[in-house]
Amino acid sequence: MTTITSEAAAFNSENMPGGWGGSDPASYGLPGERELAAIASSYFPEFYPDRAKELVRAYRPVVAPADRPGGAGIAPAAAAQNGAGALSVGEEPLEKIRADFPILSERVNGKPLVWLDNAATTQKPRQVIDRISYYYALENSNVHRGAHELAARSTDAYEASRDKTARFIGAPGPENIVFVRGATEGLNLVANAYVKPLLRPGDEIVLTILEHHANIVPWQLVAEETGALIRAAPVDDDGQIILSEYARLFNVNTRFASITHVSNAIGTIAPVREMTAIAHGFGVRTCVDGAQSISHMPVDVSSLDADFFVFSGHKIFGPNGIGVVYGKSDALDSARPWQGGGNMIADVTFERTAYQRAPQKFEAGTGSIADAVGLGAALDYVSRIGMENIARYERELLEYGTRGLKGVPGLTLVGTAAQKAGVLSFVLDGHSNEEVGHYLNRAGIAVRAGHHCAQPILRRFGYEGTVRPSLAFYNTPGEIDLLVSSLRELAR
Ligand SMILES: Cc1ncc(COP(=O)(O)O)c(C=O)c1O
Repeated sequence: MTTITSEAAAFNSENMPGGWGGSDPASYGLPGERELAAIASSYFPEFYPDRAKELVRAYRPVVAPADRPGGAGIAPAAAAQNGAGALSVGEEPLEKIRADFPILSERVNGKPLVWLDNAATTQKPRQVIDRISYYYALENSNVHRGAHELAARSTDAYEASRDKTARFIGAPGPENIVFVRGATEGLNLVANAYVKPLLRPGDEIVLTILEHHANIVPWQLVAEETGALIRAAPVDDDGQIILSEYARLFNVNTRFASITHVSNAIGTIAPVREMTAIAHGFGVRTCVDGAQSISHMPVDVSSLDADFFVFSGHKIFGPNGIGVVYGKSDALDSARPWQGGGNMIADVTFERTAYQRAPQKFEAGTGSIADAVGLGAALDYVSRIGMENIARYERELLEYGTRGLKGVPGLTLVGTAAQKAGVLSFVLDGHSNEEVGHYLNRAGIAVRAGHHCAQPILRRFGYEGTVRPSLAFYNTPGEIDLLVSSLRELAR
């Protein structure tokens, strides 16, 4: 059986509120796509649950062994060198990688900086810093509209970054890439430009309990305005999405689903491909919040099949103030502009405005041009090392860190999903999270302590906050050893 709802028709801009094209079936007294889907599902009640069960059955978590060939070979012996030693990430020696990041040579409280706050923001290699300086020294101009040489240089640099971004995440082309300020702005864009016009009172948006507040609050705001409801999928005691429960949240009222790819608070990797397939089985489009996955693993939006994917430049060794919304072409075409201004228009009169096509339709005003260019340099940097190599190295480091932390008396790890990336959240008996954070800071170790803007998932485990060391590929086993020994000292 094929899907009842024709996605193309359901998301056709002509069916948008406001009757952009004036072909709304309701205006002829006919049932629309949603009504037809509701009617059909009442005749075929088994249709939706069966499809969901099939997808749930198809999902098998895969846990990559730490010792698989080609890994960095992280082991206590390597760690004993208390530094990058002879380790490498793919072909690139770790010492060389660390030398690219000037701030990693900084001292804090008289100690070498140990940056384990990568989930909050990542440090920048000199290749990114230099690229931004070069832009301001030699290319600075507004983009697109100038007839002069510098406008051509800056436009080339800006659009080259869009191309690189499309290639980096496996998007069909640069027209699928919208530059925004960051993941937060990206999620607000998707909620307001695409989803809000679809919503009617009683409609539902499916999230998960793992979400960062940036993937909760924008949905609450549009739900409040339209009378829609939010539903959140639960996790099991390890922090893993329960796919059968997830599938149960969908029904004929579901209009959209937004999912974090990796939890910033507990590190769970959500099975977003399977979750997207479940949503699509119900004729529902999805957005993946890639803020925490983008720097840790290869991302291919085409194979994930998500309709939207967002991330921030500063989480992937790029500048602040730049982020990306990927959207499928038909989804971007049917979305309304969400901010008005220069750059996004084709023609303006006081009677009406004609808009540019995507992505310009969503880029009102002067964007963060230098930061977009810097993001391109960051993507070049990690691409040269290889995202597969980065993922493999970090997986070993995460497992090494997990083993180390488990040995600290009184320490409880929060979030023990089989599939995790980047994050080692924990609480320590007898010590507040802030106290642990300050203690580690005295040893030069930067970690985050608090609710990590993800209160629902921490409360699911009975906590208001945790201590959260978070990893990047420039971290070393020696740094993990220092973290563990400092915590052992505090726990004594
Ligand atoms: C999972 C997740 N989503 C969204 C965001 C928001 O990112 P930004 O603050 O860069 O907009 C973050 C930031 O920590 C995050 O971890």
